[in-house]
Amino acid sequence: MNSYLTSTLFRKTLAALSGLFLVIFLFGHLAGNLQLIMLSGDAAQKQFNEYALFMTTNPAVKILSLLTYTSIILHTLLTLFLAFQSKSARPINYAVSSGSENSRWASRNMPLLGTIVLVFIVIHMKSFWYEMHWGDIGNDLWGNRDIYTVTIVAFRELWYTAFYVLSMVGLGFHLCHGISSAFQTIGIKTKKYLGPIEKFATMVSIIVPIAFASIPIILYLRSL
Ligand code: HEM
Repeated sequence: MNSYLTSTLFRKTLAALSGLFLVIFLFGHLAGNLQLIMLSGDAAQKQFNEYALFMTTNPAVKILSLLTYTSIILHTLLTLFLAFQSKSARPINYAVSSGSENSRWASRNMPLLGTIVLVFIVIHMKSFWYEMHWGDIGNDLWGNRDIYTVTIVAFRELWYTAFYVLSMVGLGFHLCHGISSAFQTIGIKTKKYLGPIEKFATMVSIIVPIAFASIPIILYLRSL
């Protein structure tokens, strides 16, 4: 048991499970953020700020948030460790033979893609999450912390909008290989499910980043 807890298989399984949990987080986060573009003006401000208040104060959501932060840290540390471990054990990379061309490219560049996503998350959390919890952001007309205006103002900047769009390209490639690799690690990617899993990974890695990127793009265009 003790040796299993320190084994590469255990680390890989934890990295896969934390990664898959973060994919679920992405779906929820996307649904919440789409409110920014579904409505506009006062109605959007009221609804988004009420939603953000709920997301930062509801006890059940707080537990999910703690799981999210833990997953980000765990996933980063474990995947970095596994990458260094396999680099030193196997200086010449395997020729990866399964998956699409994009997935093969992504699989060779996971440390770089993961770093792009991590840098994005750190800058993103400073801009919004930190401001929502501890920033001096002021309240809206209904007395709620006005994270809506912080978001709208952030995406008036072309460079900040472009940074989000480029980061979403990195996220897409990271998801493309990451999802199918995680299913393989936890043993679900058998011959029978190989096709559906590859399709699912490809769809998620295209739809989720495009939907996320549409938010800053639309907010930027509305601000012109
Ligand atoms: C592009 C559109 C996005 C917008 C407009 C957006 C907006 C926000 C806002 C306003 C918050 C703070 C509100 C709160 O703490 O509940 C937040 C938190 C957060 N965002 Fe985003 N986000 C976007 C994309 C992303 C992406 C792509 C990721 C991950 C790759 C991400 C990761 C996070 C995390 C981890 C938090 C903290 C969540 C928590 O405290 O539970 N966001 N985001």
